[in-house]
This record gives sequence, C-alpha cells and structure tokens, in this order.
Amino acid sequence: MVGCVSVMRLRGWALRGMAVSAEHQRQGLGERLLGAVYTEVDGPMWCNARLQAVSFYAHLGWAPVGPVFRMGDRMPHQRMTWTRVGTAAARSGLREGRVSELRLESGQ
Ligand SMILES: CC(C)(COP(=O)(O)OP(=O)(O)OC[C@H]1O[C@@H](n2cnc3c(N)ncnc32)[C@H](O)[C@@H]1OP(=O)(O)O)[C@@H](O)C(=O)NCCC(=O)NCCS
Repeated sequence: MVGCVSVMRLRGWALRGMAVSAEHQRQGLGERLLGAVYTEVDGPMWCNARLQAVSFYAHLGWAPVGPVFRMGDRMPHQRMTWTRVGTAAARSGLREGRVSELRLESGQ
C-alpha cells in the first residue's frame, strides 16, 4: 500500500488517516486520494491537519478554522474544512459512525 485515507460521519463528515508513504509523496497520489473522497462525499468535511500538511489541504480547497492546537500526540494541528461549491444531493452510501477506507496499491 502506498497511500490511504478514511472518511466517516462524525459531526458532519470527518476526514482521517490521510497519508502517502514517504517514497511516493509529491507524485499526485494524495490529490488522487482526496479526489476519490470528493466523489463519495458531497457535504462539508472537516479534519485536524498536521501543520506540515496544511499547504497540501489548502492547495486542494480546504480552509483553516481557528487557532493551531495540540492533539493527544502533542503535535500541532490545524482544524480545516472543505465545502463543495454548489453541493448536490448526497450520493454516498456511507452511514453514520461507519468508516470507509480508500487505499492505493502500488502500480494503481
Ligand atoms: C500530506 C500528504 C498526504 C500529501 O500527499 P502527496 O501525495 O505528497 O501530495 P500530492 O503529491 O498529491 O500533492 C498535491 C499538491 O499539494 C501540495 N503539497 C503536497 N505536499 C505538500 C507539503 N508537504 N508541503 C506543501 N505543499 C504540499 C503541493 O502543491 C502539491 O502539488 P505540487 O507537487 O504540484 O506542488 C503526504 O505528504 C503525507 O502523507 N505526509 C505525511 C503524513 C501527513 O502529514 N498526513 C496528513 C495528516 S493530517
């Protein structure tokens, strides 16, 4: 596996566990993973982004909300949100409390 992301219903839509393996970063895989999420999730999303990932999310349409804070791991994070402009009716089969995972295997 070279990348993963999960999304779940939690106070709206929550994006979690976004990661691309170090040797595959900056090759567009993170953008592809988020693109796959955008096809499943219509509503506004939020995430707690590590500071070093804020530029990545901002590049893909996310906006920072509120101050930088430290999570349980003591790492500084920034709450960010994303909203599709002109949200269409939700087409997703995702359900409250259920995590959906998207993974990219090497070569995909
Ligand atoms: C953040 C992360 C998921 C991005 O994935 P990626 O596959 O490297 O991102 P992409 O190649 O799709 O990048 C798309 C664009 O986002 C921006 N971007 C990506 N990583 C960036 C970084 N570290 N700093 C600044 N901008 C970044 C760039 O504009 C990039 O386009 P460009 O390469 O043409 O300039 C990946 O770096 C990662 O897993 N990091 C470690 C774990 C982590 O921080 N996860 C986020 C937890 S909230």
